Amino acid sequence: MKIAIGSDHGGFNLKAVVVRFLTEKGHEVLDAGAVRLDPADDYPDFARAVSELILNGEAERGVLICGSGVGASIAASKFPGIRAALCHDSFSAHQGVEDDSMNVLCLGARVIGEELAKEVVSYFIGACFSGAERHSRRLSKVAAIEKEFQRV
Ligand code: RB5
Repeated sequence: MKIAIGSDHGGFNLKAVVVRFLTEKGHEVLDAGAVRLDPADDYPDFARAVSELILNGEAERGVLICGSGVGASIAASKFPGIRAALCHDSFSAHQGVEDDSMNVLCLGARVIGEELAKEVVSYFIGACFSGAERHSRRLSKVAAIEKEFQRV
């Protein structure tokens, strides 16, 4: 799978771990930065970079890492078509894809350890949207909200 990954300084070290993990599993990883540890960088810039790679069709899914995972999930969810969520457990990581078609997993490097992060990422990558009628209906309602409140 083609997976875009990005982090600010808060997630910089964990990003390297996740990049290595996904690459070793045979995935094509598009690293959207940060390319170096810069305490002054801002998570919305990496949320934008990862979201654009997905919306342009260059990546199928994304992983975003900041200190808590909160800022990254808020920022990425502003992009129409991005369904980003903070998950620190395997159940949410796979069910978020199966039921809610989550396409960006957010992690908080100051909260989650490396091994759990790798497990959560595995469940996220291994899951597929179920396509069940009730979930498609709910997703349509989410998309309708996004469209109704879009100000262009
Ligand atoms: C940056 O220090 C930190 O605020 C950021 O990584 C993230 O935790 C925001 O949600």
